[in-house]
Amino acid sequence: MTKVISAYNPAWRALRVTSLFMDSHSPFAMTKRNLPREAVISPRQRLLMDPGWRFHLGDIESTGSLSDDPHMQTYLSVKTGFAAGAASPAFDDSAWRSVDLPHDFVVEGTFDPAHNMDHGYLPHNVGWYRKSFDAPAEDLGKRIYLEFDGVFRNSTVWVNGHLLGTQPSGYVSFRYDVTDVIDYGHINIVAVRVDARDFEGWWYEGGGIYRHVWLLKVEPLHVAPCGVFVECRPVSEALDAWDAVIHTEVTNAADVDARCRIESLIVDEEGNAIARAQSSKTLPANTTLEVTQKVSVVNPKLWSVDAPHLHRVITTVRSGKTITDRVENTFGFRSIRFDAEAGFFLNGQPLKIKGTCNHQDHAGVGVALPDRLHEYRIERLKEMGSNAYRCAHNPPAPELLDACDRLGMLVMDEARHMDSSPQGLFELESMIRRDRNHPSVILWSLGNEEPIQASDIGGRIVTTMKRLARKLDPTRPVTVAMNGAWGGPVTQAVDVQGCNYNLSLYDSFREENPDKPALASEHASTVSTRGIYINDANRGYVSAYDLNHPEWAHRSEDAWKSVAERPWMAGTFVWTGFDYRGEPTPYRWPCVNSHFGILDTCGFAKDNFYYYQSWWSDRVVLHLLPHWNWAGREGEPIAVWCHSNCDLVELIVNGVSYGVTPMPRNGHLEWDVPYAPGVIAAKGYIAGRQAASVERRTTGEPARIALHPDRAAIRADGEDVAIVNVSVRDANGLVVPTANRLIRFSISGPAIILGVGNGDPSCHEPDKAEQRSTFNGWCQVIAQARREPGEIVITAEAEGLAPAQATLKAEPGEMRPFVAPA
Ligand code: GAL
Repeated sequence: MTKVISAYNPAWRALRVTSLFMDSHSPFAMTKRNLPREAVISPRQRLLMDPGWRFHLGDIESTGSLSDDPHMQTYLSVKTGFAAGAASPAFDDSAWRSVDLPHDFVVEGTFDPAHNMDHGYLPHNVGWYRKSFDAPAEDLGKRIYLEFDGVFRNSTVWVNGHLLGTQPSGYVSFRYDVTDVIDYGHINIVAVRVDARDFEGWWYEGGGIYRHVWLLKVEPLHVAPCGVFVECRPVSEALDAWDAVIHTEVTNAADVDARCRIESLIVDEEGNAIARAQSSKTLPANTTLEVTQKVSVVNPKLWSVDAPHLHRVITTVRSGKTITDRVENTFGFRSIRFDAEAGFFLNGQPLKIKGTCNHQDHAGVGVALPDRLHEYRIERLKEMGSNAYRCAHNPPAPELLDACDRLGMLVMDEARHMDSSPQGLFELESMIRRDRNHPSVILWSLGNEEPIQASDIGGRIVTTMKRLARKLDPTRPVTVAMNGAWGGPVTQAVDVQGCNYNLSLYDSFREENPDKPALASEHASTVSTRGIYINDANRGYVSAYDLNHPEWAHRSEDAWKSVAERPWMAGTFVWTGFDYRGEPTPYRWPCVNSHFGILDTCGFAKDNFYYYQSWWSDRVVLHLLPHWNWAGREGEPIAVWCHSNCDLVELIVNGVSYGVTPMPRNGHLEWDVPYAPGVIAAKGYIAGRQAASVERRTTGEPARIALHPDRAAIRADGEDVAIVNVSVRDANGLVVPTANRLIRFSISGPAIILGVGNGDPSCHEPDKAEQRSTFNGWCQVIAQARREPGEIVITAEAEGLAPAQATLKAEPGEMRPFVAPA
């Protein structure tokens, strides 16, 4: 029997499907008021899709919902646009939870030793998301792309029951052209199934649509997504004359050829136009063409880690007198060079790379970080004197790189997989095309510690990946972070040798490979717990003295010295800047976190923070450890350490001087001090003068709570957050360094509590809650603004402690245009 279209009743479809599209009239939540200036003069619209999704934890049966007839069930299940179950527009999701993106459903789970240890002992599951939105009739004729910045993982996307594709990677950004399947003038449904049961890493990876989603609408004649790349080439040694080679991919998605003009305008930070180029082209129907323009730029303000000056290129596409597209991209003028003998050079000046490796999760939110949190974390690392960030072991959220550009932080951007299969190369291409305008990015890392790093196969894979990297970006070197086989086939393929650990092999590598630039791509892996000074295997805590590390790793001091003392070593990436969930080391359950961080999961400094700050930053640093609350240990010797970059340090215990001691370069000082309550103090001298002083006092009992918001005002844009640190203090206002007290939060005004944390690696309290225990005196609450200005009041209360309140402003301001649920 030949199937003909009348084998099913078109009227049935109209009834079952189209009627669903007709009964809502909610307009796009988009007005001129909330459009950025650029969008008003550009036909392009890039709309945030984050608000108003429905979410279901667990899988949904995908059969049987479109017809009662068994044959029709099979028949329709294989028809284009007839996805069943939760992928069908007809599905009733009214009982599902409402969530806004970014969203991580794994962090909402309950810790259990039965779950995967490396992923933080949290349950991993399938999750479904659905969002309804209006597509205006006048969008017909435009090109529409649905863009995902990152979904963990194995996501499948449908629009109106049309399958768009499956993306296994939980880390790449990807997009679908949805032009054909949008129902113009009606309500549309996007459905996303996420399967976070399989892993891509051995650390906490989260689950869900944990980065932004965008709807990009452009005219048929438009700049291709990620289609602008500005290659900055210095043409004078003094770096006062540059060529900017602007590569622009223009797409003509119409069925007729298009004659067009492409204009590129380079503007500086103040908005002054400093260079412009124009080209005319005929684009054949349905093609994408690259246009290359070269302009000279004289004396641009250079991007550097201390003065991160940025520029923008504004690309305009015209057909006759009509502007069909206009888009802005940020970039920077800076030169980079890795030298086998002298290390790394930024803008012609030697610069030791003082970096940290980091995974992407933070307390309270899992991997679903609001943009401000990315910035906060980079600010904390900058404060330590760090100038570089390794995205371990995957491409980061775009906003992390924006923060690095703005704040001056070099980046080693890393592919998740060392893989030259079509999927591996897709992931690499997605990363490089997306990230190649960021001046912060100085290296593409093509992999980390792959067992095949020693083999010819490994060498061939990396060679293929490098070929693609070069084609997409001829300006940056490639590396692979390797924990062995230095000098082997992979080393031959890369531009810069990435050395993980193995300090004892540095010098022989250098001798045998004198022409290969190198850096310590991974280093230290020192373990410590904030505010803990005695290892405690039962509770899963490690002392915060710089003493503990797994057998492949090192103390911070030994690791840093090994790089500081070798000019040919371009620098280091310490494992890690921040603690992260999962990979609990050296202890397992009840510990659910790694301890490798110099800061904990909230961004609270451990003592090693001050070691690095002493030798990495320009600040005068003087820090004493441990705290001085050792009731019950009176008379016992306590190791007192000092991290400082002063020339001389004097320790004074309860008024008695222990003498003035020279501070060894890149080292620390330590004394044995019999405990008596009171005060340990230090004075730091530079060039014969007192430059700093510090003290640690024995505190009284906890008496009150104090709140420390990172800012007094946040934007009322539904996205911005206040990071509020919470401390427990004694009657004299000193932080009680042993206080573990349950704090309850409440919030009034236009904001919500997004999450809480305390940096305790063994804490099993939920992050999605309105209460949290302090851990050694501190915890954190993250408050997120709604899209409404006003006064936000956060109240913190605990039994037996005086409460505290913080008042913040949610200020009106520019809001990113978004698509509201229909
Ligand atoms: C490295 C690895 C990291 C992390 C680290 C812990 O070998 O690259 O991902 O596992 O060890 O020390």
